[in-house]
Amino acid sequence: MDKVCAIFGGSRGIGRAVAQVMAPKGYRLALVARDLRVAQAAASDLGGDHLAFSCDVAKEHDVQNTFEEMEKRLGPIRFLVNAAGINRDSLLVRTKTEEMVSQLHTNLLGSMLTCRAAVKTMIQQQGGSIVNVGSIIGLKGNSGQSVYSASKGGLVGFSRALAKEVARKKIRVNVIAPGFIHTDMTKHLKEEHFKKNIPLGRFGEAIEVAHAVVFLLESPYITGHVLVVDGGLQLTM
Ligand SMILES: NC(=O)c1ccc[n+]([C@@H]2O[C@H](COP(=O)([O-])OP(=O)(O)OC[C@H]3O[C@@H](n4cnc5c(N)ncnc54)[C@H](OP(=O)(O)O)[C@@H]3O)[C@@H](O)[C@H]2O)c1
Repeated sequence: MDKVCAIFGGSRGIGRAVAQVMAPKGYRLALVARDLRVAQAAASDLGGDHLAFSCDVAKEHDVQNTFEEMEKRLGPIRFLVNAAGINRDSLLVRTKTEEMVSQLHTNLLGSMLTCRAAVKTMIQQQGGSIVNVGSIIGLKGNSGQSVYSASKGGLVGFSRALAKEVARKKIRVNVIAPGFIHTDMTKHLKEEHFKKNIPLGRFGEAIEVAHAVVFLLESPYITGHVLVVDGGLQLTM
């Protein structure tokens, strides 16, 4: 049977790097993002028989329809990576309610919706593996990132609880908590300013996170784990 993996946020950054690690390992991939053209370009760069789908993870109907479409075209989803996410830094007193809602809906509710859809299929398939991409900020907190931090901290609680709920069904759920990684999300940041607090002295690369994601995805005896990939940043926070 095909090893089918849905990667939400697979069009760019960390999700795309996960796809680049998985494609040569024989997985059939569904790359999912709002911008279909970018996702299609990422899928065709992989070569092989991978597909792109357009979906806003914050919208229940979108997620439901995307799972139906993915399963029709690729077969049952056995692996899920939730890398779709947004970050809008601002002090809480200046943060509009709509900004709170959009971060919580994309980063937290979105992963709940995709996990719910995937777990239904994984129960029927008698097994599956999920990796949710959190953040070191969700574990440590950071000034100007209270809402983002809440969304990522919530993802840890959600993932650990779900790991307990579905373990008997042979479904594993783990979390990756990256530090500063070179992607579109961090391109506005001055690395010089932040790297003095990173023991390894640099931002990470998406591919370095991707290898850790795939490690968790494929590790048969690890569940409910939060793996930090941050160049040692947590040691100084
Ligand atoms: N980069 C870092 O330093 C860092 C550190 C810690 C954690 N993270 C987390 O890692 C994950 C990936 O981040 P990244 O750095 O790779 O960001 P990125 O380069 O900006 O990529 C974000 C991806 O998520 C997709 N996406 C965003 N909103 C979406 C939505 N509502 N529905 C569906 N897809 C959506 C984007 O595609 P579309 O825009 O086309 O939808 C894109 O594929 C995020 O959850 C982020 O919070 C990143």
